[in-house]
Amino acid sequence: MANPSLLVLPGDGIGPEVMAEVKKIIHWFGARRGIHFDVTEDLVGGAAYDVHGVPLSDATMQKAMAVDAVLLGAVGGPKYDVLDFSVKPERGLLRLRKEMDLFSNLRPARCFDALADFSSLKKEVVAGLDIVIVRELTGGVYFGEPRGIFPDNEGGRVGVNTQRYTTNEIRRVARSAFELARRRSNRVCSMEKANVMESGILWREEVQWVHDHEYPDVALSHMYADNGAMQLVRWPKQFDVIVTDNLFGDVLSDCAAMLTGSLGMLPSASLGAIGPNGRPKALYEPVHGSAPDIAGTGKANPIACILSFAMALRYSFDLGAEAARVEAAVEKVLADGVRTADLMGPEGGTPVSTTGMGAAVIAALDARLEA
Ligand code: IPM
Ligand code: MG
Repeated sequence: MANPSLLVLPGDGIGPEVMAEVKKIIHWFGARRGIHFDVTEDLVGGAAYDVHGVPLSDATMQKAMAVDAVLLGAVGGPKYDVLDFSVKPERGLLRLRKEMDLFSNLRPARCFDALADFSSLKKEVVAGLDIVIVRELTGGVYFGEPRGIFPDNEGGRVGVNTQRYTTNEIRRVARSAFELARRRSNRVCSMEKANVMESGILWREEVQWVHDHEYPDVALSHMYADNGAMQLVRWPKQFDVIVTDNLFGDVLSDCAAMLTGSLGMLPSASLGAIGPNGRPKALYEPVHGSAPDIAGTGKANPIACILSFAMALRYSFDLGAEAARVEAAVEKVLADGVRTADLMGPEGGTPVSTTGMGAAVIAALDARLEA
């Protein structure tokens, strides 16, 4: 049987630095666990623009469609701020999401015990937190038409974006949230703005429909997204799985990320429909961005990217036990006080660079094998 295939797209800013640590872990799995991947590497974002004049070439897009899973670092940087909107680095990422039809974006926010003191919220609010935001990723205001900047009839201009959701788009992401909830604490909270938006009314009705017809065993609640933002900060442990649209999901997942202490900790999986190979189309990426301010300084935390690879093991390759192995190694390293700059709280710890953190995770993986 052929090895599973991975396309690695390090991208911009700290992307290549954090991905370098993930590549070491991929290599570790081959050397120490006999789990081999065929890895191809390519360009995305500003790095692709510099070479091809576009943030994602057609050739790279084809590779992404052909592999079993894509691992992405980060895209964007100040150097590219001046570019036309159509070739900005982010467009490369959005093209991957759209053309791979990755409609379900899983963003877990889990607070590791060792970091509970480190959140900007009180320890009792975040200790033991383990929630997942399921963000719709291929619809809504990110892609809705009409969109653009047009002249208005007063001699000025008008900026237009369209929030648009169909029954099918809502139902399919709702199903993925209910499926996930069944493997967890069996609770889903759906968030929208049904009090002001028709698309929100439809969202609420369709999520309820999927629940009533297909997942009556799962506890479903609905919440306005603004209240959801408040509740996430007030008492996040009330949630298990949150399902929401593309834009609310973007905002709420950054908020949830900070509950865990650092944006440098959060992985994500973007999944599409199950293909003929029995696997979903899939892209895995850290929730953090390219962090141009610290790129090249060795300060970046590779854990979000490492945990994104763990999600690939679980969701693309059915290697849940191997994913747990990576997660346990990360937990061990954090418990031992190993800290990149973003994790350095008042209690101190052992300061490490990006590569130092990668090496510590590999040492923990080794230690566990030898134990
Ligand atoms: C994210 C990011 C992206 C988004 C940007 C980089 C286009 O913020 O993945 O959350 O808005 O979706
Ligand atoms: Mg975002």
